[in-house]
Order: sequence, then structure tokens, then C-alpha cells
Amino acid sequence: MASVKFVGVSKVYGSDSKALTDFSLNVKDGEFVVLVGPSGCGKSTTLRVLAGLEEATAGRVFIDGNDITDETPSKRDIAMVFQNYALYPHMTVFDNMAFSLKMRKIPKDDIKQAVMETAEILGISQYLERKPKALSGGQRQRVALGRAIVRHPKAFLFDEPLSNLDAKLRVQMRNELARLHSKLKATMIYVTHDQAEAMTLGDRIVVLKDGFVQQVAPPLEVYNNPCNKFVAGFIGSPAMNFFKAQVSNSILKTINGSMKISNIDNGSYTMGVRPEDIVVSEQGKFGLSVEVVETLGNEKVIIGTTSSDEQITARCKPDIDVIPGGNLKFDFDVNRIHFFHTDGIEKKV
Ligand SMILES: Nc1ncnc2c1ncn2[C@@H]1O[C@H](COP(=O)(O)OP(=O)(O)O)[C@@H](O)[C@H]1O
Ligand SMILES: [Mg+2]
Repeated sequence: MASVKFVGVSKVYGSDSKALTDFSLNVKDGEFVVLVGPSGCGKSTTLRVLAGLEEATAGRVFIDGNDITDETPSKRDIAMVFQNYALYPHMTVFDNMAFSLKMRKIPKDDIKQAVMETAEILGISQYLERKPKALSGGQRQRVALGRAIVRHPKAFLFDEPLSNLDAKLRVQMRNELARLHSKLKATMIYVTHDQAEAMTLGDRIVVLKDGFVQQVAPPLEVYNNPCNKFVAGFIGSPAMNFFKAQVSNSILKTINGSMKISNIDNGSYTMGVRPEDIVVSEQGKFGLSVEVVETLGNEKVIIGTTSSDEQITARCKPDIDVIPGGNLKFDFDVNRIHFFHTDGIEKKV
């Protein structure tokens, strides 16, 4: 396995389609890094530049300290797993997994051993003689994984590998990937638009927007201390609530009420509150008329509107007594409010 380093990498498609701008990142040997961001933010481009499938417009890429920016893809020794599996339809599972080793003229017995061992890890030993069309989506994804694992590459790159699976299978494969990572201790760079995947899989998360890195940090750090309003709104589900707020002499005025607050300068801000930091109570200083109640078993998600017409999402205990059309009083957890500047990239205060 190996470390990966991007230094000031940019990619412009054609003359003016800027997909990635000044991207720098150090991925440690054995680390699991997740690139996350909305569609079109440059995630696939980053992987493709690392794999050598796209040429960087500027910057350098290093594997284990060696500059591989101008190296051909085959010399980079990197395995990429895609959303659409890209299996060879006319080959059996065994041959799909053995293919890259055969190309490298590895002895037959060694190939057999590598494929059998990997199939065992992935629980696909009984399908080795089948063709891909006789497999379910989850089994195909395992074969695609297996094909990457047998090669013992320097790094694994995953481009939204679970997007084609149904929700339950996606969670199961996500867990398997996490287990696989701790077993193989492999360097993995994983791309997804799904913030839950990013949170659960990554040692560190890289949040991208419009080709620019927003924040690089461990999942909880990104969740608890998002660097700007974009990251705050993108990570977390249901998403963070945002309101306009004014602070004057330790009094915070927002929506239809006010509360005491310390340690924040006078001024106008965008205030962010996660749904779990809205505290429903009869003495609450703020009011809400309830529109939707989602009963999830372990919690209720309440969506409502304030008298000043802001929409609010709150996560509450499952036994809270509330119905659509009713009213609620609530407070904000004063220690969990995020403040953002209202100009530019709306940096965290
Ligand atoms: N081959 C290409 N030619 C021109 N523009 C491209 C090409 N590939 C990607 N792009 C553009 O670059 C941006 C980033 O694309 P991509 O890296 O695929 O995003 P993501 O994987 O995050 O959805 C998008 O605006 C996309 O339209
Ligand atoms: Mg993509």
C-alpha cells in the first residue's frame, strides 16, 4: 500500500470548463479518505487524474513520494471500482477476477490461490463459474471489488460504487467495505455524493464544491465544526436549519423570539441549528406550527413553520405528543448554535 499526494492539481476540460481548482491533499498509507460533494463538483475528475485517465492541467500527483503525474495508467498500479461494475459480460466470475493477473503473466496456481482467497473474503466462492448476468447487483459489486483486491494495488479508488444498489444492500455493502478496509489496511479513496456514506466510511472527509476544497477533516469534526455554511448544510440529515439573526449586547434575536447569548460580537449573522439541537419545551421562547410529523420509531422528525414563515426541522424523542396542525414551543441549545458571516463564502464565525 502507499501514500498519495496531490499538489495544486487543477483540471480544465476544453478551454473553460473548470472541474477542479488547486486541489491539494495528503492521503496517508492505509488511510480511508472520502471525497464528498454534490454532482459535478469534481469528485470523479480527481480520481481520474490520480488513475491517469485524465491529464492534470496543472499540479503534480505523487504515489509513495514518486511523481507519477506523467506516468501511464498501467504503471501507476492503482485499482478503480466504478458504479457500473464494468465486468466483462462474456467471462465467468473467476475469469473476471483473474484477468488482470493473467495479463501480468502471473503463474496459474498463484492466480487460482489469489482468486479463491479473495472470493472467500467477499463471500462469492460459490459463484465463481457464473457469468455476471446471473448475479444480483450486490454480487456483481463484490466481483468488481474482488477484481480490484486480487491485484494488491497501491491504492483503491472507488467512484460511487454503491449507487446502483437498493438502500438496504447499500448499507450492508458499506459495512463490508469498512470491514474490508480494516482487514486489508489499504489506502482507499472513495467518492460519493451521499453524506451518510462519507460520515460512516471516512477516516477523513474532503468536502468539495464547484471544484474547490471546502474542508478536510475527520467526520465528527466536519459535523460539529463545519467551516462554512455550505459544508454545514451539506453534511447531516435532516439538514441544518438556517435563520437570519441579530446579536446586540448579548441578546440574540431570530425568527419570532429572542434569547441570551454570550461570546459573540454584535452584528448580523446567519445562524445554523441542527435538527437535534432544537429543544421542544412548554417554556420555549420560540413558536412553531407543526405541518409534518415523521414517526421513525426511534425518533420523530417534526417539520413546521414559524409565525415569520421560516421552515424548521426538529428531531425529537419518539414519545413526544404532537400532531400536524398543532403548535409547539421550543428553544435552541445555546451551546450548539453555529454562526456564519453573511458575506462571501459565509465562513463560520
Ligand atoms: N470530459 C469532460 N468534458 C468536459 N467537461 C467535463 C468532462 N468531465 C467532467 N466535466 C465537467 O467537470 C465538472 C466536474 O465533473 P465530475 O468530476 O464528473 O463531477 P462529479 O464526479 O463530482 O459529479 C462538471 O461540471 C462536469 O460537467
Ligand atoms: Mg462522478
